[in-house]
Amino acid sequence: MEKRYRNFKIIIKDSYDNTSSAVADIIADCINTKANTVLGLATGGTPVGAYKKLIEMQSAGKLDFSRVTCFNLDEYHPIAATNDQSYKYFMKDNLFDHINIDPANTHIPDGMAADVQTECIAYEQKIAAASGIDLQLLGIGMNGHIGFNEPASAFSRVTNYVELEASTIEANSRYFDSADEVPKHALTMGIGTIFAARQIVMMITGAAKANIAEAAVLGNITPQVPASILQLHPNVMLVMDGDAAKNIIARLA
Ligand code: PGA
Repeated sequence: MEKRYRNFKIIIKDSYDNTSSAVADIIADCINTKANTVLGLATGGTPVGAYKKLIEMQSAGKLDFSRVTCFNLDEYHPIAATNDQSYKYFMKDNLFDHINIDPANTHIPDGMAADVQTECIAYEQKIAAASGIDLQLLGIGMNGHIGFNEPASAFSRVTNYVELEASTIEANSRYFDSADEVPKHALTMGIGTIFAARQIVMMITGAAKANIAEAAVLGNITPQVPASILQLHPNVMLVMDGDAAKNIIARLA
């Protein structure tokens, strides 16, 4: 099912697997149209299926990452790249080690940066030097965060050092032995950095995300729901499963 709502193109699939395929197809089209695509990538449980599909496509010779550059949204701080909960490790494990991307073209904020402000500025400069992001893949947090931009009194402009909300630490503790082990801070692209991407693909799956998806897409534009800013972006696709989209479908019916 496809719907248009304001600037959003909403694609709704009947399963996680088909949602993952739809996202992978959009990314593959972008790379096949522009071999030196600059991708913005996300971590979390949601995009894992799409990454598997991209790996399959490249194994089948249908996709070539050799000229692609990637920038990830965020990284915990402090965390070592060798820690299996770091986003650096996640990206290698779930995508980079299985495709023909040049590791030198994969960028993630440095979770061990001694000077976080310098690291944030350098990350922003690297994105600018790559001529910006062509396609940014996003998930959404249960509190509406994109990247690690938590609900706040203002939208952040550029890559910044943030304190994680208790609810985010709790949500992410499922990957750690305990909530105490989840780093309390992170480096994240700003809302402005994300918004500057020429195309945005937001993937949302599961009934637990139905309320926040509705708030982001149909609610007020407010930094209390950081993803709501996407209502103003000219080129956003929302790729959702029926469970995540159920409130939106009911309101747009
Ligand atoms: P999830 O995380 O994909 O693991 O639900 C999304 C997010 O926090 O942005």
